[in-house]
Amino acid sequence: MRKSFMLALVFVLALCCCAGAEEIKIGACIYRFNDAFMLRFRNAMADESGKLGAVIEFADGQDDQTTQNEQIDGFISAGVNVLIVNPVDRMSSQAIIDKAKAANIPVVFINREPTAEMLATYDKAYYVGAKAEESGTFSGELVADYFKAHKESDKNNDGKLQFVLLRGQNGHQDMILRSRYAVQAVRDAGIEPAEVANAIANWDKLQAMQIMNAFLMAIGPENIEAVIANNDEMALGAIEALKANDYNKGDASMYIPVVGVDANASALEAMRNGELLGTVLNDADNQGISSVRLAVALASGRDANSIGYKITDGKYIWIPYQKITRGDRQ
Ligand code: BGC
Ligand code: CA
Repeated sequence: MRKSFMLALVFVLALCCCAGAEEIKIGACIYRFNDAFMLRFRNAMADESGKLGAVIEFADGQDDQTTQNEQIDGFISAGVNVLIVNPVDRMSSQAIIDKAKAANIPVVFINREPTAEMLATYDKAYYVGAKAEESGTFSGELVADYFKAHKESDKNNDGKLQFVLLRGQNGHQDMILRSRYAVQAVRDAGIEPAEVANAIANWDKLQAMQIMNAFLMAIGPENIEAVIANNDEMALGAIEALKANDYNKGDASMYIPVVGVDANASALEAMRNGELLGTVLNDADNQGISSVRLAVALASGRDANSIGYKITDGKYIWIPYQKITRGDRQ
């Protein structure tokens, strides 16, 4: 009697352990749900979790680090096995790493890169993303190639490129490095870049539209030879403003080349329509899939090198960008 009870107990315990090991719970913190690129990212994460039989729960940080910190505490006390974090402020990542470390659960950062020093403080802290400088270089090359191929786009014939720069959120590596490397790529192509205006539009279409409207009024479209935006949403906002001024509507003499980054569906459509010159694929699918695979591998104690994505320097998964021009994708 007693023996069979013990056996039953062992059996139940074994069952619990197995179930525990197999059903990984992921707490995923997104800086803000209302972001077109992060929506693509989230969808990829949800799909991959489903495929791996893991349970993923998403929290909307609403662009507020304090809110996100509370959500992280909530996930930890609910007993998640691993965190995936898209920090609101990447410079706050140390506090997040400290929380994960204290709870002894792995943490995979995405899209907003902690410093190498921060990641080095915890052996179970990783980053999945894309090299910001690469996207900057590609977007600058798109503009430079166009400028060279279309002599008339040098409207004032000074050999320099008069451009407007629309930047993402302050402090984001993609805002800093895309801006720098886009301008550098223009210079490397042998064209002198001449910035006529720049502004932070926080990755946001509406803000970019308003800013571009103000720039068009103050500077005049005839004095702008290109618009370089750190992402597609801002590029699309700029295009709205241009269209309201009868630009980029099909008349070749009323056209300003605009480039973005992400290759969101709406940008690809604008490119097909001839409104957007080009963009850079920010591969949300592979970033989403690899972050979930990494999280599940770490949480179940499996080798991170077994997930089909290369781990660099023991900490990073880098997903390459791709230049997208009309004709690449129909
Ligand atoms: C994307 C932006 C997005 C931002 C969010 C960037 O990599 O290009 O579209 O708003 O990430 O952090
Ligand atoms: Ca010029």
